[in-house]
Amino acid sequence: MDSIVVTGNGPLQGDIPIAGAKNACLALMPATLLSEEPLTLTNAPRLSDIKTMNTLLASLGAEMAVLQDGLVITTASHGEINPVADYDIVRKMRASNLVLGPLLARLGHAVVSLPGGCAIGARPMDIHIEALEALGAEIELKDGYLHAKAPGGLKGAVHKMRFASVGATENMLMAASLAKGTTVIENAAREPEIVDLAQCLRKMGAQIDGEGTSRIEIQGVDRLHGATHPVVTDRIELGTYMLAPAICGGEVECLGGRLELVESFVEKLDAAGVSVEQTDRGLKVSRRNGRIRAVDVVTEPFPGFPTDLQAQMMALLCTAEGTSVLEEKIFENRFMHAPELTRMGANIEVHGGHATVHGVERLKGAPVMATDLRASVSLILAGLAAEGETVVNRVYHLDRGYEHVEAKLQAVGAKIERIKE
Ligand code: UD1
Repeated sequence: MDSIVVTGNGPLQGDIPIAGAKNACLALMPATLLSEEPLTLTNAPRLSDIKTMNTLLASLGAEMAVLQDGLVITTASHGEINPVADYDIVRKMRASNLVLGPLLARLGHAVVSLPGGCAIGARPMDIHIEALEALGAEIELKDGYLHAKAPGGLKGAVHKMRFASVGATENMLMAASLAKGTTVIENAAREPEIVDLAQCLRKMGAQIDGEGTSRIEIQGVDRLHGATHPVVTDRIELGTYMLAPAICGGEVECLGGRLELVESFVEKLDAAGVSVEQTDRGLKVSRRNGRIRAVDVVTEPFPGFPTDLQAQMMALLCTAEGTSVLEEKIFENRFMHAPELTRMGANIEVHGGHATVHGVERLKGAPVMATDLRASVSLILAGLAAEGETVVNRVYHLDRGYEHVEAKLQAVGAKIERIKE
């Protein structure tokens, strides 16, 4: 398995282009199952998770064309669609569960393996199941597969989600677009990736109102048509690279970045002593004079602080002046990077959903292990400013979520290289 070697060095300077959002693209691609006409996505990120979704959709009978080195993905589902999403593909990535709603809407039945993905918590499917059952689906778990059917077709309904689950909102949004009548999703997730999906579905002919708020209303239509849609900027990749100059000093412009995607994160950066300015090219980030200050962080659904930036933020706070408390409210097992950061000299105590970080002057390079996608990149960020060499082992998770990570960081002056195995 590849590893990444990072050598701590001085301030970073230059531009980092931010890719299209992995999480948006993974929700947009299954929307192809809702129409017989082609769906073209531009600004797609070049990541292994996107390849996994390609493989899954192809196994269901969609025709896939990946152009311009992966930036453009066209999918067409005009042939016969296979209702079974197999364990061997689904286990690689939790977002595979996003084919459940579209398959049900298109075929009236689906058999989808329970998903895998990063080991950051139990991540059950109950909220997805309740949402689709509200639309009239009957779902049973047998042999590790969800067997779903909607004998009389899906019917619109008013449904309040117990928790504003991103994936369940996406599944329900897609299913309701082809259901009979009106659906109202209450306590819907408000993430920018949901807004992006709703905008794309609308281009396909869906009638949707209220995306980006907690109440989304959908008038079902009989059929959807083809469309072309650019994937929204990846706010997690954006936040990750914004932390590079925050940790190392210097000034980096994250091209394509927009403040409204990362407001709660920018508030915390500001409190820690990092300046962020919106320019016409993106977000310009620089560290103000002196040491980073400690800040407390609580992860919450959007527009709160994103759980997907918690590990990276912890890497910054390891060398802050004072003590920071990070509270993880979305996933129960998401501090696996803490013991690895401790190997680099960080002083962190984890108690249940809280991590207390006592800032130290400087981290020291060490061999560390990447445990999940965001944890991997937090260790790279920590290594950028640590004394000496950090070797991040088991980086396959990284390639699921970050394209060209070494090239992007080298371009702003970081010393980072990949050792291929
Ligand atoms: C999405 C993102 C992921 C991000 C997460 C929270 C994608 C592909 N992934 O994941 O990167 O970290 O949002 O912002 O978009 N839950 C249940 N039952 C369910 C569904 C979820 O208990 O049926 C729980 C999960 O275990 C978790 C919490 O709800 O603790 C949040 O999950 P959810 O919002 O559904 O996240 P995902 O869509 O899986």
